Amino acid sequence: MSMLKIGVLASGRGSNFQSIIDEIESQHLDAEIVLLITDNPSAFAIERAKKHGVHYLIMRPKEFHSKDEFFIKTAEELKERHVELVVLAGFMRIVRKPLIDAFPNRIMNIHPALLPAFPGLHGQRQALEYGAKISGCTVHFVDEGMDTGPIIIQAAVPIFQDDTEETLSERILKYEHKIYPEAIRLFSEERIEVKGRMVSIKGDTFSEAFIVNPAIKKNPE
Ligand code: GRF
Repeated sequence: MSMLKIGVLASGRGSNFQSIIDEIESQHLDAEIVLLITDNPSAFAIERAKKHGVHYLIMRPKEFHSKDEFFIKTAEELKERHVELVVLAGFMRIVRKPLIDAFPNRIMNIHPALLPAFPGLHGQRQALEYGAKISGCTVHFVDEGMDTGPIIIQAAVPIFQDDTEETLSERILKYEHKIYPEAIRLFSEERIEVKGRMVSIKGDTFSEAFIVNPAIKKNPE
């Protein structure tokens, strides 16, 4: 199997982008990030791209006539570099049809809550304010909705009574950095099968579809 070519879209800090870079550099993921596209000229993700020799482009949506035109151009740039999987890593825009149609079931996103609970912005704050006792993160394929596409992997974490948005976000982020590269690895091994909104993982032995608090077992006594 040839090395998977990845394109990353990020708007900010880029810690998920970094976790993918790290997995590739430590040879746990047989992939290559061929392009970073950011809509934010001051995104820290750019510094990470420079440091690790990832080619990057700054594309500002307001420089395009319409949102669709922005996504048409984005798809063109990704196709030009033969990208096979598009990874949204803190990309703060709703992806529109031209990009989705160009990469059907080939765009992944990570969300900091257990979907379908708490979609949209501030998933961690929403879970806290709702009084949930467990939250986590979700890697899913992207469709035209807001965090509604087929779910690939989830990880659960507890919410403690004294948690703040910061402490919960930090706990969730550690798992984001585990499950995102894991989902990409499964994709690169061609082990992800999508039927409608059902995702199955070929050869899954229970532990791969999700990473949870080790106290949660498949068959608890
Ligand atoms: C993460 O919490 C991710 O789940 C959400 O946006 C945040 C991005 O963080 N989609 P980073 O830029 O990857 O550090």
